[in-house]
Amino acid sequence: MMRVSVIGCGHLGAPHAAAMAELGHEVIGVELDPEKCKTLAAGVPPFYEAGFADLLAKHTSTGRLRFTTDLAEAAEFADLHFLAVGTPLREDGRGYDVAQVLGAFSALIPLLSRPATIVGKSTVTVGTVARLQQIINDLAPIADVELVWNPEFLREGHAVEDTLYPDRIVAGLSSTQARAAIEEVYAPILARGDVELIVTDPATAEVLKSAANAFLTTKISFINAMAEVCEIVGADVNTVAYGIGIDKRIGHGGMRPGIGYGGGCLPKDVAAFTHRIDELGAHEAHRLLSAVESVNASRARAAVELVEKAHGGPIAGRTIAVLGAAFKAGTSDVRDSPALRLAAGLVERGAVPVIYDPEALEAAREFHPEFAYADTAIHAVTGADLVVLGTEWPEFTADPDLPLDAADLVHRKVVVDVRNALQSGPWLIAGWEVWQLGRPPQRTQVR
Ligand SMILES: NC(=O)c1ccc[n+]([C@@H]2O[C@H](COP(=O)([O-])OP(=O)(O)OC[C@H]3O[C@@H](n4cnc5c(N)ncnc54)[C@H](O)[C@@H]3O)[C@@H](O)[C@H]2O)c1
Repeated sequence: MMRVSVIGCGHLGAPHAAAMAELGHEVIGVELDPEKCKTLAAGVPPFYEAGFADLLAKHTSTGRLRFTTDLAEAAEFADLHFLAVGTPLREDGRGYDVAQVLGAFSALIPLLSRPATIVGKSTVTVGTVARLQQIINDLAPIADVELVWNPEFLREGHAVEDTLYPDRIVAGLSSTQARAAIEEVYAPILARGDVELIVTDPATAEVLKSAANAFLTTKISFINAMAEVCEIVGADVNTVAYGIGIDKRIGHGGMRPGIGYGGGCLPKDVAAFTHRIDELGAHEAHRLLSAVESVNASRARAAVELVEKAHGGPIAGRTIAVLGAAFKAGTSDVRDSPALRLAAGLVERGAVPVIYDPEALEAAREFHPEFAYADTAIHAVTGADLVVLGTEWPEFTADPDLPLDAADLVHRKVVVDVRNALQSGPWLIAGWEVWQLGRPPQRTQVR
């Protein structure tokens, strides 16, 4: 058991803190935002993340997990400090704004009064760890301060599961003490024997994380580019994705065609990496990833065009139910959400989207007050000219009652699924037309 702190308790840090308590550590979470800190300390998640509420309640009630706004308390308490603050894109899009990382780091180092390991989890571009090492060299009041870069690969919506059962653990470090600390903090996971610890140098750890995001988005944009081709020739991109994914060198993961990637990580991480590798002179890699970004940027437009096609003409003045606001199912995170990108595209064409989401309504209302919202799926579809599925929540994609319940409430039974996730059978039986990106429309054959 170790005494650990988690500095920055957002979508990554808060579930990480709860998961570290689950591993048996004594954990203090440091969160700058006093409201968020208070909520977490009361054992209530400030956002929806599958499985997080139970774990948070469990460990705040035993006292093994507590939260503070005071970094000095964490410096005093912990032997190992996870750094999980945000690295948003700079306003000009040219790389990360690393103010949170530099701020937290520069504040923590002078407070250390006993040997400590700092484990960075935030996603940064290559070169950042070297900068942070310099801060340690300049500001540490004691000698034994180790730095490890331990990039995080969790998927939002599976944050708890992915933290406790990761595919791999990557540690960029430069000393045996740092290695011992990382082995100790993850000992319960490593003891299971099915997770590889990849120990490497900090620069490799930085590139490994960026490369993982870059490859995943390349796959997503590739299949979306094929959706564009299929659309033109009347082929079915879902069958193409399935057929090529059978090849073990390709695989099915990350190959669902649709409106493209979004969220608080992939878009900004690929943008920051693409910019950085250009600066570093990796021009071919820059061209490749620029194409990936360009395909992704085109998907909201493709989705709006599909809505118009499904409607059979311009959508100005039409009411369109949008089911889903979260950037993906399993989370309330609406950062750079494809569903909301689509809603904005509909508004640009003069339509009126009415949005419902089972978990992200509050966040969507807060960050996008410009849209109209409904409190249930049924309210959203009532009086709509057509229905768009914007987020792949199972209660939309796999509920056999929704197509029946909604059938009499809409002007035309047309559903546009921009995630290619809908189980279309019940919708077709209930008399709906089902439109998906890169696929011919599906209609029940009336004899
Ligand atoms: N969200 C994910 O699924 C995910 C996955 C992998 C990696 N990451 C990376 O993890 C990092 C955090 O991402 P996030 O989505 O959790 O961001 P977030 O914005 O949700 O959380 C960051 C938190 O840090 C807090 N903070 C900032 N400065 C602080 C300080 N000095 N002391 C204490 N708290 C401070 C902020 O108030 C905020 O609550 C980013 O670098 C991101 O790229 C995130």
